[in-house]
Amino acid sequence: MTAQWQATQVVPVSTFEHVVPSRLLAQLNETINIERDGWRPRDGRRASDLARQFAELLRTTHAFSTMEANVRASARHWYTSTFGHEPHSDPLYVLRCVNRDMPFQSYLRHFDSHVLTLLISLQTVGEDKKNGDLVVRLKQRQRFSALSHFVIKSWLFVEHRLPLALRRIVIASDEILRGYVRIPCTPGNVYIFNGFITLHHNLNVSTGERRSLIIHYYDPEMAMAPRRLLRRVQTLIDRANYRF
Ligand SMILES: [Fe+2]
Repeated sequence: MTAQWQATQVVPVSTFEHVVPSRLLAQLNETINIERDGWRPRDGRRASDLARQFAELLRTTHAFSTMEANVRASARHWYTSTFGHEPHSDPLYVLRCVNRDMPFQSYLRHFDSHVLTLLISLQTVGEDKKNGDLVVRLKQRQRFSALSHFVIKSWLFVEHRLPLALRRIVIASDEILRGYVRIPCTPGNVYIFNGFITLHHNLNVSTGERRSLIIHYYDPEMAMAPRRLLRRVQTLIDRANYRF
């Protein structure tokens, strides 16, 4: 039977409802129940083979495969018109299983390395302010270069090392200035956004375990450019030292 789904949009995130059939959802969660004790770290972020298998199972359903093809085509068009060449990276598959023992995984604002992010909600933990929901900044970045990407990544690297309480204050201040929106997730729904230009983070989890499958597509490899830039600067410094 073909699942029924529809797309709604809370800028900048599109929601596709009821994409994952409940029977498949139960099967994925049961597989996680069996395997998660062996994960190191326990949040599943390195269980990429399992995440890829989950994605393949989802692609056997008409609802997911149709939706994925549509959003990939749209993101590919954005990538090509923005960067002037075709993307060539493989998708990146991530499982994210977070509970109350992982507060350090919350309030970590970031831009994704990839242009398209699919968040498939597998399991949620209530609706209060500590349920791990996705939060996105409403205003997306319009301009970026290798240098600006490097600068913002460097700042966020520092911010991520602040204590949780301080990170929350920093984000709350920015929320007043720029506006963020919380995306309440429902298991079986798929949430889609351009994580490369949309600053986002997750709330912390106070009880139970929140589970998501995340698939990233189309990496413009902007992180490579700052590294090349730093190497070039280092070479110039080395030459100058040699001369004098
Ligand atoms: Fe992300």
